[in-house]
Amino acid sequence: MAGKEKMLITGGNPLQGVVHVSGGKNTSVAVIPATLLCDEPCTIENLPDIQDVYALVDILRVLGAKVDYVPGEFMKVDPRPAEGWQVDYRNAQRLRASYYLIGVLLGRMGRAEVAFPGGCKIGTRPIDQHLKGFNALGAQTEERGGVIFAEADRLVGRDVFFDMVTVGGTINVMLAACKAEGTTVLHNAAKEPHIVDLANFLNSMGAKVKGAGTDVIRIKGTPYLHGSTYAVIPDQIETGTLMIAAAATRGDVVISGCIPTHMEALSAKLLEMGVRVNDSDDAIRVRMMGAHRAVNVKTQVYPGFPTDLQQPMSALLTTAHGRSMIEETLFEFRFKHVDELVRMGAQIRVVERTAIIEGVPSLYGAPVTTTDLRAGAALLVAGLMAQGETEIYEPEYIDRGYEHIEDKLRALGAQIRRESID
Ligand code: EPZ
Repeated sequence: MAGKEKMLITGGNPLQGVVHVSGGKNTSVAVIPATLLCDEPCTIENLPDIQDVYALVDILRVLGAKVDYVPGEFMKVDPRPAEGWQVDYRNAQRLRASYYLIGVLLGRMGRAEVAFPGGCKIGTRPIDQHLKGFNALGAQTEERGGVIFAEADRLVGRDVFFDMVTVGGTINVMLAACKAEGTTVLHNAAKEPHIVDLANFLNSMGAKVKGAGTDVIRIKGTPYLHGSTYAVIPDQIETGTLMIAAAATRGDVVISGCIPTHMEALSAKLLEMGVRVNDSDDAIRVRMMGAHRAVNVKTQVYPGFPTDLQQPMSALLTTAHGRSMIEETLFEFRFKHVDELVRMGAQIRVVERTAIIEGVPSLYGAPVTTTDLRAGAALLVAGLMAQGETEIYEPEYIDRGYEHIEDKLRALGAQIRRESID
């Protein structure tokens, strides 16, 4: 991603005030493709104004759907004219979630040709479990020349046993199963909030999905799905990133419009560090005075500590009192931000899948480069808490998952701006 801009942050300002969290990226990138399973127009609201949404608008239009998208307002999708079944490399590479079009197109067209997805390079990220699920429903699948070919004369509901908990696999097979004959049962299913949100959207169209949020999800195939207007849930990971930024800058921030029950693993860890966290029904207040204690973090599938928050959390832990350990159990290469934090004065070493962080008194601003979306979040937090000025190169990664993040942080008192690189 050749950077044309850099982000400049002068650190040291405590974040203070109220910030409203946007709609969820990982739910939106599942709900938008799911509109193609419908037999009537749908309207989706509360979508975040982020790059991944624009990529999906382009993909749906190439497939022939009529898409009317007003950022910050609504997206109207009329799937009826859509007759395509191919997603080319250029578009598929723009995001990870392009692979959800395999499940959707199998369900809608009985076939799909989708180039391998893009997304953050945080591990090998195979899709064998997705294909296992499609095969169980009766689809033939083949990977050839960087493209996944899938075809099924008919999809028939079956039991699918995932070998490991996979968010993408659970979503993808759920999408295809909506159009299978009979009932599909997903065992060892992922339980993330955005899986529940997708199930609620599908059911709002007349689908029959039960058990989302547990490890067994039952989907009864439905021949006809009627139109729906649906608002996606707030972003769990943006909420967590803002909570961490509030603590890291010794601030006092209310994150409004969030779902506190989605944040319990992070809230518990922050409380363990000595951060003050107070929940109300749709807001969380985070305050930090004085020093914070070192803690150990182990990423887990939901409801455990989210892997997407371990990177911003590692920035917060660079100045905690004592030694912290972060164990990343889901992805093999999710520590690429560590080298950049070390450039800012952090003391971190990575041993296999564990980052060992020795607390230092302060970070210092430096030029750093974003390598993936949540690494960018880590550098944002580090820049906000560091003494002096930090330059973040390739901030485009951050734009994939955080809506208008500078505006939000500036409104909380951050000194942050973007400059073009001549
Ligand atoms: C989703 O990725 C999210 N992306 C990720 O968020 C998130 O980190 C991840 O879930 C875990 O919560 C979207 O929702 C678009 P997985 P996904 O399938 O679906 C292995 C962000 O920053 N696996 O649950 O790719 C896989 O390699 C992004 O917003 C297989 O081996 O995650 C990984 O080690 C980054 N075979 C583990 O399972 C498969 O067929 C979990 O992957 C599928 C997965």
